[in-house]
Amino acid sequence: MAVDLLLGLQWGDEGKGKIVDVLTKNYDIIARFQGGPNAGHTLEFDGIKHVLHTIPSGIFHKNALNVVGNGVVIDPVIFKKELDALKKFELDIKSILLISRKAHLILPTHRLLDAASEASKGKAKIGSTLKGIGPTYMDKTGRNGMRIGDLELSNWKEKYRALADKHEAMIDFYDVDIQYDLKDLEEQFCAAVEELKELTFIDSEEFLYQAQKQGKKILAEGAQGSLLDIDFGTYPYVTSSNTTAAGACTGLGVAPNQIGDVKGIFKAYATRVGSGPFPTELFDEDGETMGRVGNEFGATTGRPRRCGWLDLVALKYAVQVNGVTELMMMKGDVLSGFKKLKVATAYKYKGKEITHLPYNIEAENVTPIYKEMNGWAEDLTKMSKVEQFPKALNEYIAFLEKELEVPIKIVSVGPDRTQTIHR
Ligand code: IMP
Repeated sequence: MAVDLLLGLQWGDEGKGKIVDVLTKNYDIIARFQGGPNAGHTLEFDGIKHVLHTIPSGIFHKNALNVVGNGVVIDPVIFKKELDALKKFELDIKSILLISRKAHLILPTHRLLDAASEASKGKAKIGSTLKGIGPTYMDKTGRNGMRIGDLELSNWKEKYRALADKHEAMIDFYDVDIQYDLKDLEEQFCAAVEELKELTFIDSEEFLYQAQKQGKKILAEGAQGSLLDIDFGTYPYVTSSNTTAAGACTGLGVAPNQIGDVKGIFKAYATRVGSGPFPTELFDEDGETMGRVGNEFGATTGRPRRCGWLDLVALKYAVQVNGVTELMMMKGDVLSGFKKLKVATAYKYKGKEITHLPYNIEAENVTPIYKEMNGWAEDLTKMSKVEQFPKALNEYIAFLEKELEVPIKIVSVGPDRTQTIHR
């Protein structure tokens, strides 16, 4: 049975948590393949709003197993908080949540290194969530990292000490003023590790291989978005993992020829949190309206998200790099009330009109060229079927499908599980 993928196609925050939660009933296993607690996947159901950071978004469906893959980085302290927040749901976590032994650990000093690195960059800072993601992936590729499986060894504390000491020396090297009490942070870390060790650790690539052989349906859940991919995103203003489809192969141990549907999620407009280029960003009332109506604040950091028109040049690029087979459009309801909508269909770049994403998309290099479309006044949030859609929304969807050459299978009209319309 092929493994389906679900990915964000913009700069994250597209609504992956909601869609995974909606789709979970069709799957036996939900597997997160990259990123860490920099992600904030928000789920709303039965009047409850819940944000997950590392735990896969299938956790509320009792029949689904949830796998944290080898490509994920785990902060035991944040993980413990996530587990504490789930206690009221009385889930059998030990049975339904499985963690790869090859997933890397975020140490307290990784978070400090993140802070030191950002502080040293001044105006050029990435706008990191400061969760230690970059330094942890650096240790992974530098072959210094600690993994979940190390916690099963009797000498894990020695390994920890050697790495943390090295990090302290690196923090000094940055020569920035970072205040911290490492003893306190380490006490929290060790207490959280003891709790983590109560959970089920697995050789996840073998587990997923056998599950596939048994015909189990697996959905790989991505975090962040394609434009934050370490290779294909707006480097250096990116995260430190492969957020695109290839990341699911390396982050779970699934062979490329085993990938089935690639479900790409995008918002009907665009947002970005943190620094970096954003060609269609709005600095006017329209952008302010999108942010207010769309409640565009980071689920992890609470930072206001930058807002702008949908960028089809960037979206086509993401569809291409991921091999997207079906699309899901989120937050169409937020655009209700705009008389006119704009969609960037090309860029002016070095005096020429181009339709592909070039190397430099900073404001001084590209100017978006927009197609203007009619907006709709109707409130979409109470709608439950496609037949209720206003004409202008149908035209907007039809235009995007024609340009992207991929069908839009789901239109989300609100944050709740029930506000999901299948086409
Ligand atoms: P980091 O991965 O926390 O270091 O952040 C690097 C960049 O990715 C920053 O611009 C963050 O704002 C952005 N970022 C990281 N995770 C997310 C996410 O889940 N949603 C949106 N942006 C994110």
